[in-house]
Amino acid sequence: MKKIIVINGPNLNNLGNRSPKHYGKLTLDKIIYLMRKHSENTNIKFLFYQSNHEGRIIDFIQKKVKEASGIIINPGALTHYGYSLKDALIDTNLPIVEVHLSEIKNREKFRKLDIFEDIVISVISGLKEDGYLKAIDLLISYLNK
Ligand code: DQA
Repeated sequence: MKKIIVINGPNLNNLGNRSPKHYGKLTLDKIIYLMRKHSENTNIKFLFYQSNHEGRIIDFIQKKVKEASGIIINPGALTHYGYSLKDALIDTNLPIVEVHLSEIKNREKFRKLDIFEDIVISVISGLKEDGYLKAIDLLISYLNK
């Protein structure tokens, strides 16, 4: 059994109300449902966590790291400046896949800087909710290598 931590950062609890053009129409609960469904009949177990607070996300990672085989994370706007979260992720030594619903490189200037891209095995950006499903496949094939 492989346990994968799935973290969603600030404002991702508000999916469904945010710009559908950038983020799609689904709520976070619906995305979680799709991720579980995508992984039915596998030996994956998910630990889902969302917070609007960087420190709480770090507390969660530190608490759960020992149980986990890998991490899928959408850091929200922390993508562009969250260096404490970056340190916490580095300290896990786990393989990490980064997901963005929108295409961050084709939006406002402040979103172009991705401080996590050099510590993750892959960045999936612009595929809306499908990005989370692709992240599962990527992480699993990496772990099975
Ligand atoms: C996001 C992109 C970020 O720039 C933004 O702050 C978010 C969501 C995405 O999923 O496209 O909250 O990470």
